[in-house]
Amino acid sequence: MDDLQNEGEQLTPVGSSRRSFLTQLTVAGAGLTIAPYLSKANTSVPTSELSLIQPVNVTMMVNGGKQSLTIDSRVTLLDALREKLQMPGTKKGCDHGQCGACTVLVNGRRINSCLTLAAMCEGEEITTIEGLAHGEQLHPMQEAFIKHDAFQCGYCTPGQICSAVGLVKEGHAKTDVDIRELMSGNICRCGAYQNILDAIKEIQTA
Ligand code: FES
Ligand code: FES
Repeated sequence: MDDLQNEGEQLTPVGSSRRSFLTQLTVAGAGLTIAPYLSKANTSVPTSELSLIQPVNVTMMVNGGKQSLTIDSRVTLLDALREKLQMPGTKKGCDHGQCGACTVLVNGRRINSCLTLAAMCEGEEITTIEGLAHGEQLHPMQEAFIKHDAFQCGYCTPGQICSAVGLVKEGHAKTDVDIRELMSGNICRCGAYQNILDAIKEIQTA
């Protein structure tokens, strides 16, 4: 039990106050609602790490808007989104390319933003979870996740949804086995896999 607790704290090192807060949540839908607050609590990159030792200028389109940044060449796209552009919807889980929480779309292709340097994204079109909806109108994949109750705590959900949108666009997922395999890079510690599968199947076959 201690091992499990320790492991969980490595991924979400925000202490007992967050854990007790989560236990008070009684509806699964709250996962999406609380995601921005979780991300603020999980801000693990000290501002000093984003300091300009090797500054580079980068201009990219993020969710349809032009963003010009002067950042250190070592800053990841994930940290640029969360710390520089104040878009905390993209989550930091492992920060090592192993969990998929940081998945965003670059020119429509899903990538792990924790493994991508922001400096490599010059001229690229980035879509994050914040950019999928149109105003009050959710993206069909977001609607499907809600309909199928495809999340619990919601921490992995932005990455799952971005990955699912990319997956459908790829057009390769025809069977349950395919979808499971092609979504295997997105880990859900709450184990909502069957519901995630159901949500993707609905969109895949729509
Ligand atoms: Fe886990 Fe990027 S944060 S893969
Ligand atoms: Fe909690 Fe996936 S819904 S980690």
